[in-house]
Amino acid sequence: MPGTRDMLARVRIGVLTGGGDCPGLNAVIRAVVRKGIDHHGHAILGFRDGWRGPLENAFEELTIESTRGILPRGGTILGTSRTNPFKRDDGPDLIRDNLRGLHLDGLIAIGGEDTLGAAARLHGEHGLPVLGVPKTIDNDLGGTDMTFGFDTALHVACEAIDRLHTTAESHNRVMVVEVMGRNAGWIALHAGLAGGADVILIPERPFDIDEVCRLIRRRHSRGRSFSIVVVAEGATPKAGTLETATGFVDEFGHERLGGIGHMLEGEIEQRTGYETRATVLGHTQRGGTPTAFDRVLATRLGVAAIDAASDSRWGMMPALRGNRIELVPLRDAVAELRTVPESEFAVAETFFG
Ligand code: F6P
Repeated sequence: MPGTRDMLARVRIGVLTGGGDCPGLNAVIRAVVRKGIDHHGHAILGFRDGWRGPLENAFEELTIESTRGILPRGGTILGTSRTNPFKRDDGPDLIRDNLRGLHLDGLIAIGGEDTLGAAARLHGEHGLPVLGVPKTIDNDLGGTDMTFGFDTALHVACEAIDRLHTTAESHNRVMVVEVMGRNAGWIALHAGLAGGADVILIPERPFDIDEVCRLIRRRHSRGRSFSIVVVAEGATPKAGTLETATGFVDEFGHERLGGIGHMLEGEIEQRTGYETRATVLGHTQRGGTPTAFDRVLATRLGVAAIDAASDSRWGMMPALRGNRIELVPLRDAVAELRTVPESEFAVAETFFG
């Protein structure tokens, strides 16, 4: 066990996980710790619960021993939260003081739009040595072709649709499957495509409930007795025809979603006369063990992140570009969300109704 003097002589890097948890977070932490300690000889500190950790100095030292066996584990061993460091005026200064107090050379923030948005501001506006790693099951971050967690969520959603197919067919029902996706419909689109959905509703394309019902009726008039409708939780009806707000808002100002599936259940049954049931997959899509794809992507990003930290590439983020991991400016990840393009949605529409 190294003494304090040895510890301070080494490069010291902090790591945190913020925002919604996501399968693959532990794989990134493991990669940062393993390469950071074994290869670079750094000391690694893990902050608790996202930005709450550096704000309140809540941390633990991470070692190769303490991160053994976490590669296939869902969630995050560091805990997470939706704490916004800019919600309080002294947030950035507090973080600066705490990083200094712990003799940290830099911080790796693993997160989505909000966590990386805060990281970009802490670096850009306050000069703090922060770099980011992109994660979200929603797959909607800019700067990267894909985020880890998406593949796992997609498999959960696709398997659920396959299961709902057989019960829908047996009961001659319309099944509405609500999946996650606040601003982008990647999970709905890909799970719907892979699961053979008859209608897919995504946030990028406000929907018309009459058109949804027309597609279902058309399908039934062609001899099918059941239908599968996949809806992203962030999908919205055209021109406020259905009220979907829950009224809860988090520290970043995002409304808590969930509920569109049950709303559609009632509307479709009432308008078409077909018996309809809704299933909300919710957090089952975020929980549990990551797929092999997500473990590999998360590991590659973790290794690239600790290498970048070792080279003091603050303000940057490793990203998947084609098949390669490349460093891109952190601000690219949050400048614009990566939403579903029309051309991809058009492929799914071929199979509607
Ligand atoms: O950002 C990922 C996500 O899963 C969104 O799809 C969803 O809207 C949100 O997180 C749910 O957040 P929470 O777990 O805080 O309810």
